[in-house]
This record gives sequence, C-alpha cells and structure tokens, in this order.
Amino acid sequence: MISSSAWQRICVESIDITTLRVDAIVNAANASLLGGGGVDGAIHAAAGPNLLTACRLLGGCEAGQAKLTPAFDLPAKFVIHTVGPLWRGGQKHEAAILAACHLNALRLANENNCNTIAFPAISTGAYGYPIDAAANIALTAVASFLAKSDNPQEVIFACLPEKTARAYRRALQALASDAST
Ligand code: APR
Repeated sequence: MISSSAWQRICVESIDITTLRVDAIVNAANASLLGGGGVDGAIHAAAGPNLLTACRLLGGCEAGQAKLTPAFDLPAKFVIHTVGPLWRGGQKHEAAILAACHLNALRLANENNCNTIAFPAISTGAYGYPIDAAANIALTAVASFLAKSDNPQEVIFACLPEKTARAYRRALQALASDAST
C-alpha cells in the first residue's frame, strides 16, 4: 500500500520539460543516446552540443536503464537519459521496462543528491505506448519508490501536449484517491 504522502510529492504539469529549473530532467532517449526527435530532440537542442559530446562517452543505454550527464545550457543541473520500451502490443515486458526506466532514474537522482526531478511521458510518443496505461505504470512506479525514500522530495511529470497532461493528471488523481480510501 502506497502512503498518500508519497502521492503528494508527485505533480503533473503541462509544460516544456527543457524550461524546468529542477535538479534533474529525464530524457526519453533511444539506445544510441545520440539524440533524436521528440523530447530527446528538444533536450539536446536546449542543452547545446556539449550534451551530445558527453553522451558519446556513455556507450549507449539499454531499454529500462538510465545514465546521467550534466545538463549544460539547460536550467536543470543534470539530464538522466533513459530508454523506454517500444510498444509492441504489451506481451514483450513493456510494462516492466517502463517501470524500470522510472525506478533507475530515481536511483540515479538519489545517488546525485537531486531533490527535484522531472519526467516526460516516456514511450508515449514515437514509441507508441498507450497513454493511460503508461501513466498508471509510470506514476505507480514513482510513488512506490517515494514511499520508501525521502528523496527526491518532488517529482514533476512535465507532459506535452495538454491531452497527455490530462491523462497523467487523471491517472494521478485516481491512484492517489485509491490510496486515501
Ligand atoms: N517537454 C515535455 N514533453 C515533451 C516535449 C517537451 N519539450 N517534447 C515532446 N514531449 C512529449 C511527447 O509529446 C510525448 O508525450 O514527450 C513524450 C515522449 O515522446 P517522445 O519524445 O516521442 O519519446 P518516446 O515515445 O519515448 O520515443 C523515444 O523518440 O525522439 C525519439 O530519440 C528518441 O528514439 C527515441 C524515441
């Protein structure tokens, strides 16, 4: 059972993740870590070319794993790069991989003393994960981590477009209210 205090440390905002002055923002990258479109493209564009230089030294990243770099020209301190699952119908461990993205990113955030972290809606764009299912998995994984750890103190889901933010907000309200009954 996840305590309501854990849920209260999570919020959903309809906002461009690259604008957030938090300790770490999470990037929905691909296995090469060499940039792409979507939020990956936006983060690299805002961080500047030093981010790609730093990523080249990481040797890629497996789905579900997470790696950290400085954030360079972004207002955040760190970028935690993770690779979400490509949606292939739900029978290829997609849910477990998506949960692992969040848990591994949070572990890395704690190892680097991050008090605030922002996640995008990982895998719900190019990787095609159904948004409502992704929201439930992402939020439950984060809340289960926060129930066992005082840090990070605040987790923001920075969701664009508004449709995605609405889905994550709806899921958060439903999950948090179940916790308080
Ligand atoms: N801020 C917040 N959210 C954003 C931003 C932004 N600046 N830009 C895009 N998004 C949202 C998308 O609308 C979607 O809801 O991030 C979510 C994740 O979508 P993608 O960026 O397409 O990521 P994903 O579905 O995980 O696919 C990853 O796409 O960009 C490539 O290199 C990336 O190959 C990888 C794949």
